[in-house]
Amino acid sequence: MADQAIKAGQCVSQLRCIGCGRTALPDRFRCEHCRDLLEIIYPGWEGRGPRELDQASLKRLWSERRSSLEPADQSGVWRFREILPEIPEQQVITIREGNTPVYELTHCAKSAGVGQLFAKHQGMNPTGSFKDTGMTVAASFAKQAGYRWVACASTGNTSASMAAYAARGGLHSLVLIPDGKISWSKLSQSLDYGALTCQLKTDFDGCVRVLNEVVERMPVYLLNSVNPYRVEGQKTVAFELLEHFEWEPPDHIIVPGGNLANSSAIGKALREMKQLGFISRLPKISVIQAEGANPLVRTIRETDGERLIPVHADTMATAIRIGNPASWKKALRVIRETEGTVEQVSEIEIALAKAEIGAEGIGCEPASAVTLAGLKKLVKQGFVKRNESVVLVLTGHVLKDAEFTLKFHRGDLFEGTPYESESRKLKSHQRSPLVLDPNVEAVIELLRSAEQ
Ligand code: F0G
Repeated sequence: MADQAIKAGQCVSQLRCIGCGRTALPDRFRCEHCRDLLEIIYPGWEGRGPRELDQASLKRLWSERRSSLEPADQSGVWRFREILPEIPEQQVITIREGNTPVYELTHCAKSAGVGQLFAKHQGMNPTGSFKDTGMTVAASFAKQAGYRWVACASTGNTSASMAAYAARGGLHSLVLIPDGKISWSKLSQSLDYGALTCQLKTDFDGCVRVLNEVVERMPVYLLNSVNPYRVEGQKTVAFELLEHFEWEPPDHIIVPGGNLANSSAIGKALREMKQLGFISRLPKISVIQAEGANPLVRTIRETDGERLIPVHADTMATAIRIGNPASWKKALRVIRETEGTVEQVSEIEIALAKAEIGAEGIGCEPASAVTLAGLKKLVKQGFVKRNESVVLVLTGHVLKDAEFTLKFHRGDLFEGTPYESESRKLKSHQRSPLVLDPNVEAVIELLRSAEQ
């Protein structure tokens, strides 16, 4: 990458190992010396700023691009290109990702016990999840580097996103997903976008193990989130969010935790914003996991972050059904730097929070709802104060897992599970579809009783 990063004799981005700190490493995903993950740094920023622009000029430029008709300017990722690795514009694969809405959630604020609550809805991206913001950068890099094949292991959203960007960029894509453990909508996306899709009889962590060997032996470019270009794209969500709040940071940002790249990316963005003088204080970043897929929570509580405790993951929030998260060290660093925390939530708490976000006319997939469920706990513990500003990062669209939603409203989501009796308390949030004769009186009667 160092070669590509050199433009007009100036090195703008470099790979650095997060463990040993070595820089200018070859373009791989782990350090050849200590096997830790790599991250992208921008030595050229020191003293001069990105592309020698100060923060006022950058803010103006990024905002002006919103009214441009150029594809790269219309992308909520590439309009921030000064803080991304350089990729020639003709190699950029964009489906106009990013530029996602921030919604105020008034009812959820009440139920969580805070004065004001916002959701940055990354599910409003082209393939319905936050993965698109990272994929546009990493897939573009793969194209520029001359790869014909890209590949990922996935719980469904990465694969949907990768398949779409590969198709748009004329690349072939290989998807490894756990058989029977991802939502049908996500699987259908990867088929529709033309990926070679394999359902392996294992879990996500097993898919990762297989893929790591495949990419060692074949000229296939890995697009999992250990790829530092993914993280660079994903960090733009924080720039967008701060731009929305006119560069006044919220007190808390709450993120779901799976493979732990998203929290890492948001933390990296905030660190860079502070370094560049865009903000003077860091919001606290807290990561929420499902109780059944809680390796980071256990790692922090049981080893004080010394070593990862992998778990055998199980949760209905299939997107975050991950027991051995690759980016745990990066996420840990972000939580410590920003003085955030970790929390875990139960299956019932996730289902309730998802229904509450849906009832606001917004909706999200189960993995995103852990943020609201986690916030409720953080408020009770006093970690989040009533008067503090909070942003939930909703990572996936409500249509990503329609089966979960239907089962929830029909009341059979927890049937035959250990949560069956506890799930009765969700009744008041369930709206089962009604089957009626095609009879006007029957519908009017129903309408009247609903009015009361
Ligand atoms: N939310 C959703 C909807 C996701 O799809 C994922 C991860 C996460 C949260 C967790 O993000 O891994 O950066 O901590 N999905 C992956 C996939 C792993 O393959 O689609 P993370």
